[in-house]
This record gives sequence, C-alpha cells and structure tokens, in this order.
Amino acid sequence: SRKIKIAPSILSADFADFGREIQAIEAEGADWVHIDVMDGHFVPNLTFGPPAVAAFRKHVKTVMDVHLMIAPVDPYIDAYAKAGADILTAHIEAGPHIHRTLQAIRGAGMKAGIALNPGTPAEAVSDLLDMADLICVMTVNPGFGGQKFIDMTAKVRKLRAMIGDRPVHIEIDGGMDPVTAPLMAAAGADVLVAGSAVFKGGSVENHAVYGQNIRAI
Ligand code: DX5
Ligand code: ZN
Repeated sequence: SRKIKIAPSILSADFADFGREIQAIEAEGADWVHIDVMDGHFVPNLTFGPPAVAAFRKHVKTVMDVHLMIAPVDPYIDAYAKAGADILTAHIEAGPHIHRTLQAIRGAGMKAGIALNPGTPAEAVSDLLDMADLICVMTVNPGFGGQKFIDMTAKVRKLRAMIGDRPVHIEIDGGMDPVTAPLMAAAGADVLVAGSAVFKGGSVENHAVYGQNIRAI
C-alpha cells in the first residue's frame, strides 16, 4: 500500500522562531516541510517571500515544498529556485497560462505542482498530467490555517484515476487531522499537509508533542 507522507505547514508555527520550528518538526518525523507563501492579493493574507524562504532553506534537511498562493507567479519563479525550493506549486486559478508556468518551474530545476481550489474540478488538470510532479488538492479555501475540512473525496478519486501510473503525487492541503486524513488517504492521496493539527499543544521547547501529533494523523 502507498506510504503516506506528512508535510507540516509552518503557517501554524511560531512566526518568531521558524528556524527552530523547522528543526523541531523534522526531528519529530516530518517527511516534507510545507511553506505557505501568501501575497495578500490572491488570498486575503500575507506571509513571506523569497528572502524568508531562502533563510528557511538553511534549516530544511528533508524537502522544501513551497505552496505559492500568489498571482502572478511567473515573475517570481527564479527567486524561489534560488531560494532553494525543491517543489514549487502554483494555483491553476492564479492566471491564464498554467502550462507556461509549469514549464518555467521545471526549467528552473524544481519539481512542479498544480494547486486546485475547492471550486476547481479535477478535469482542469487533464491535459497537464505530464507537466506536473504534484497535484495539491485544497480542502479549505486558501489563506489561513485551522479552517474546517471540505471533503474532496470524489475529486481525489478522479485525480488518482486520471494520473494512472504516472509519478504524480496527490497532496491534500487543509483541515488534515486524525479524522479527515484517513478519508483522503483512502481516496488516493499520498502526501498530507497539516498545520494546526501538528503544532497544536506543542512548542519548540516541547516538540515531542509535534511528534505525537504527526504520528496521530
Ligand atoms: C492554507 C494553507 C494550508 C494551511 C493548512 O491556505 O495552504 O497549508 O496552512 O493548515 P491546517 O492544517 O491548519 O488547515
Ligand atoms: Zn498550503
């Protein structure tokens, strides 16, 4: 059966202590580190940009999975490549030229992801499955951590069927916890992003709680 990877999102971490938070979640078993970039335009929240992501890179020993909730995307691709992103995921809703964006991401030496908001159907990526290494299925409307899960079982099943034996990850993003995660894994997801469910109740000092939370998902 498929090994499920857990990618904690640092959006729920202490914004005054990202370096130690990244070290803590990786020490506690994170498979990837999910970095939520928000521009206050594509989503109603603002987080961090290339300089911060370059600083995070110094601490990430696993995989730096960068989720761009920004529009436009293309002018910033090289900056995120230089910042050290391993995977760069763009929202299909961020502009009219997703195919060109994916070409540019791979051209800059990164793995390319496509993120789909809850309102975007699986069919939107049917002609892009050889251009992407990952499909990120949003199970919340993007912008914040700690939101209520929106069930995307049917969409995930459809995507897994469309992908077939291509090496394309299905990543679930939003509201992942011990109850909702098994639903998405059963539907065909292989990477689960979790922010509030990983960081809740813990701290950099008491990061054993992060490990318990990760193992419970
Ligand atoms: C939301 C972000 C998600 C978020 C997940 O826009 O893309 O990655 O941090 O947080 P939780 O797991 O708390 O829903
Ligand atoms: Zn995200």
